[in-house]
Amino acid sequence: MKQLIAANWKMNGQPDWADKVSALTALVPDPSCDLLICPPHPLVGSLAITAEGTPIKIGGQDCSEYEAGAHTGETDAALLVTLGATYVIVGHSERRAAGETDTRVKAKAERAINQGLRPIVCVGESLAQREAGEAVSVVTNQLEASLPASGDYDIAYEPIWAIGTGRTATAGDIAQMHAAIRNAVGSGPRILYGGSVKPANAVEILRTPEVGGALVGGASLDMESFSKIAHAA
Ligand code: G3P
Repeated sequence: MKQLIAANWKMNGQPDWADKVSALTALVPDPSCDLLICPPHPLVGSLAITAEGTPIKIGGQDCSEYEAGAHTGETDAALLVTLGATYVIVGHSERRAAGETDTRVKAKAERAINQGLRPIVCVGESLAQREAGEAVSVVTNQLEASLPASGDYDIAYEPIWAIGTGRTATAGDIAQMHAAIRNAVGSGPRILYGGSVKPANAVEILRTPEVGGALVGGASLDMESFSKIAHAA
């Protein structure tokens, strides 16, 4: 399977950011990786229209575990599909920090699969957990409790202390954790790395064993930078 280079724009974006899809297509006309942009949900439809006929896929940053109905502020996985999304991030640490549990993450991943989306299930330890020597057990426990029971999905390992901090895990840390995740989940899913991925470190990270791609935050807002990460795949 190709590596997946995914942009998580988080809560950044304006209607004219659909132009970034065209810019990325021009910068990476023939990608050797799968390329994904996950914008804020109000922009999913317009980005998907701009991405039509290009290799770029569009995804959501979260979805509800529920069917459509009385759930104010939630996003229906089925609506994401109607708008043209094919992937959805679930269980990002920024959402887990706001109280999202493994149980909900699993339910969201299962609802996403059921509606035809490929979820990217995020896991990762805090700095305190790493320093206590608990990183692998924290992550494998998260996997056990939050992965969908069946269906196709990817995983993103994002150590919380490396997100938006400029501090990247070493290739050794990444190799060790990705091997542990592979051992826990078997051969199916790609295992993306996320946490301060940028053009300067992308080649080393993407060549680390068992790294199936990257989930990129800050460096995905600028298409020059993001395209360099795509070229590193
Ligand atoms: O989901 C991507 C993310 O959390 C990493 O963010 O800004 O460190 O690349 P960043």
